[in-house]
Amino acid sequence: MRTGRRAVARGARAAAARGTRTADRAAELERLAEEIRACRRCPLGSSREHAVVYRGSSTPSIVFVGEAPGAAEDRAGVPFVGRAGRQLDAALARLGLGSAEFGVLNVLKCRPPGNRFDPAAARTCRPYLDRQLALLRPRLLVPLGAKALAALVPDAPPILQCAGAPRLGPLGPVFPLVHPAAALRSRRLKERWDSDVAALRRWLARPPLQML
Ligand code: URA
Repeated sequence: MRTGRRAVARGARAAAARGTRTADRAAELERLAEEIRACRRCPLGSSREHAVVYRGSSTPSIVFVGEAPGAAEDRAGVPFVGRAGRQLDAALARLGLGSAEFGVLNVLKCRPPGNRFDPAAARTCRPYLDRQLALLRPRLLVPLGAKALAALVPDAPPILQCAGAPRLGPLGPVFPLVHPAAALRSRRLKERWDSDVAALRRWLARPPLQML
């Protein structure tokens, strides 16, 4: 009986500690978000309307990594809220991911003019991505498109060779997908997107020991 009570108390203390750690993490993420919103380290800081930081859980199992905000994201200050975002959201629903399980962010936090990915800005922005991932500690990263893949797995083969299959990157397991915006532009890439999302769903359903 006493042991049982002690075990319950220990469990409650552990849960409280976990809760505190989760609250600390959410607070750290918010401090980082404020820093990013105030950033002027590169010219994109002056041309943007909003910095676009993150959407999703502060304790995600999976983080989807896009390239850079587009016009809709720049207006809203939230990643993947335009057409590509709707495509991504449909995939998230197919994957059966609950809101506590995933997060979405970009390599670049500010919209590049003309939506042209800016490698110099990406180098300046890189510490923010690293700090976000260090705080979020996801079990799986899903780079969306070639630029995100190159940022997360610099020596990976081209995106069309490795999308739809798991691999081990320097930051842990990754499962690359083609960019959802590409899937909106071409029927061939839409079919590729659909089959790669289905492959990810099958892979996530496997027992953990067989994951990689
Ligand atoms: N494309 C991206 O890569 N990121 C967004 O947030 C929107 C479109």
